[in-house]
Amino acid sequence: RSYKRQTLCRFDIDRLNAPFLEIFESLIPTEEEKAKQKQLLTLLENIICKEWPEARLYIYGSCGNSFGVSKSDIDLCLVIGEEDINKSEILLRLADLLQSDNLENVQALTRARVPIVKLMDPVTGISCDICINNVLAVVNTKLLRDYANIDARLRQLAFIVKHWAKSRGVNETYHGTLSSYAYVLMCIHFLQQRRPAILPCLQGMRATYSVTVENIECAFFDQVDKLQEFGSHNRETIAELVWAFFNYWAYSHDYANTVISVRRGSTISKREKDWTRRIGNDRHLICIEDPFETSHDLGRVVDKHSIKVLREEFERAAEIMQYDANPCVKLFEPYVP
Ligand code: GTP
Ligand code: MG
Repeated sequence: RSYKRQTLCRFDIDRLNAPFLEIFESLIPTEEEKAKQKQLLTLLENIICKEWPEARLYIYGSCGNSFGVSKSDIDLCLVIGEEDINKSEILLRLADLLQSDNLENVQALTRARVPIVKLMDPVTGISCDICINNVLAVVNTKLLRDYANIDARLRQLAFIVKHWAKSRGVNETYHGTLSSYAYVLMCIHFLQQRRPAILPCLQGMRATYSVTVENIECAFFDQVDKLQEFGSHNRETIAELVWAFFNYWAYSHDYANTVISVRRGSTISKREKDWTRRIGNDRHLICIEDPFETSHDLGRVVDKHSIKVLREEFERAAEIMQYDANPCVKLFEPYVP
């Protein structure tokens, strides 16, 4: 494929700032909603603490990483100290306790890839999934949240990208497209690469936070209150960044040879990771390295068909940002097969 490089006129693009910010604001959960989430968390903590006094309940996923839109389900992780526990047994016991406490739609999915209990709280109307001992997810949630607290533009960009991906049907891992987690990593990497950079590489700095989980050392600089000025030399606005993000994934990213790495704050070569060919079901057609489980490619779900769908969607978005009279509407038009 060969494309003309697209450029933009600052005047044209900056008129889109207000409408993009409006979309962002409309997606943020309200204080009332956050209070209800807290209320449910406290209720669940009380139930759990009676049965397993040593256990702790952590929020992970979008409600914990600050990239959650309004009306998201809550992802929770029950951390029980001992290593050799029987997860199914605990999940079934937990399901019993929840049921007796009048929570609704309680279901233990013990055979899922990540075994969970699902429930719905009739008082707050919030649904939630509880998994067990998935500590890496709790730690990567913290990493994402810490990045979000450095520069406000990350949260704005990621909300818009997630909203676009959901509207266009390209946020469905079971259909071979990318998870929300992958899209947020793509946004972080993109902002690390702007010149001047908008985000630093926290894993490349002196570690002020460090835990070892499943033999993986997770260490990074987490005193982000000291990095509030980091992105201030870059004055790009949200509209320019949305434009450039889609341009990057439509026309500039080297799909054949590179992996994006938030851990390194740069791209790295597929050769270095030995991700050059299909191994089992991992095709490595778009490569996004997990920041801690570095042997994990979050693009592994993407296949021959869905890579085409994804790239066409990136191109569609880039074209709309470039030429459409009303990109803030057109970009999010639902995909109709
Ligand atoms: P929405 O529910 O779509 O708003 O987003 P989400 O942030 O909850 O994202 P998602 O459902 O994709 O993932 C939930 C959490 O699970 C993420 O924040 C990660 O902590 C974790 N997670 C998801 N996929 C992976 C994965 O492939 N590897 C690892 N290590 N963690 C993952
Ligand atoms: Mg979620």
